[in-house]
Amino acid sequence: MADSSASITIRRPDDWHLHLRDGAVMQGVLPFTARQFARAIVMPNLSPPIVRVVDALAYRGRIVAALPEGVELTPLMTAYLTDHSDADELAAGFADGVFTAAKLYPAHATTGSAHGVTDIRAIYPVLERMQAIGMPLLVHGEVTQPDIDIFDREAVFIERILRPLLSDLPGLKLVFEHITTAEAVAFVDGAGANVAATITPQHLHINRNAMLVGGIRPHAYCLPVAKREKHRLALRKAATSGSDRYFLGTDSAPHAVSAKESACGCAGIFNAPFALESYAAVFEEEGALDRLEGFASEHGPRFYGLPLNPGTITLERSDHDVPAVIDANGTPIVPFHAGETLRWRLR
Ligand code: DOR
Ligand code: ZN
Repeated sequence: MADSSASITIRRPDDWHLHLRDGAVMQGVLPFTARQFARAIVMPNLSPPIVRVVDALAYRGRIVAALPEGVELTPLMTAYLTDHSDADELAAGFADGVFTAAKLYPAHATTGSAHGVTDIRAIYPVLERMQAIGMPLLVHGEVTQPDIDIFDREAVFIERILRPLLSDLPGLKLVFEHITTAEAVAFVDGAGANVAATITPQHLHINRNAMLVGGIRPHAYCLPVAKREKHRLALRKAATSGSDRYFLGTDSAPHAVSAKESACGCAGIFNAPFALESYAAVFEEEGALDRLEGFASEHGPRFYGLPLNPGTITLERSDHDVPAVIDANGTPIVPFHAGETLRWRLR
């Protein structure tokens, strides 16, 4: 990394957790990610979800076709696990380089999870095969039982699902996605090298007050929901620690303004437009700008067993205002940090 007070140059980063959607909105949001990242792990929670190899191939084709001329982004596709997932299909997709990983959504945990897994034991044969072939399992880590408080759902998931799972399948390669709690950090720190976690910009910047103080603010709502301040501080420490078990995954999740500002607003924060700038602010505040490159560009590829990207990107110190709304090819979407001033800008 080259670092002067006015700019930082790092190896080109990747986004290890991204929602691109489909159709016109996808075309509108793609350039924001491609501007910063070389590769992105693309979430499969479309409607219908990406379950089979043919679905992933077709979706990947649509993504590549939607990239503007001269703009590059390598989409890394994921399979959506259901109670009926087929181990042979997943393994074939992984062997052919179509599926990079498979995603576990507990049924009804979040947006687009209606077809998710109702009981993890139902997919044990699939998970055993994934362990055997080294295919990463990406986990949305929240229980869905109605008696569990929404702010406790991640911590309870660790005890009820993750610990038993890793005790049964100790070699499973697992990414605990978008972690939001000190309990998740402790879990990852205490697990083996086969367990890692992604951390979003929003969970490093905001706690639950951002959602609820002074009025209800739907654009700060995502799942897992932001928790109290001590959790945000634990996440900042983990992300900036230099540990190779933590890496960048934005979970950028665009929803139209009308779907967010509603009596039942959708979960998801659209952070793609200024994701790197947002992470850079955190690393600077923590006095850890020298560790941004590891988090953004090195830990992820090493965990996934993929080459580091050639090339670099440069962030310059330059104040810029984040717009209130972004037009994603005809759909207005409020970006993360709307109306704020960010201090770093991608050159
Ligand atoms: O806030 C979220 N939005 N969390 C998820 O897990 C899904 C995502 C989406 O697809 O909108
Ligand atoms: Zn997500």
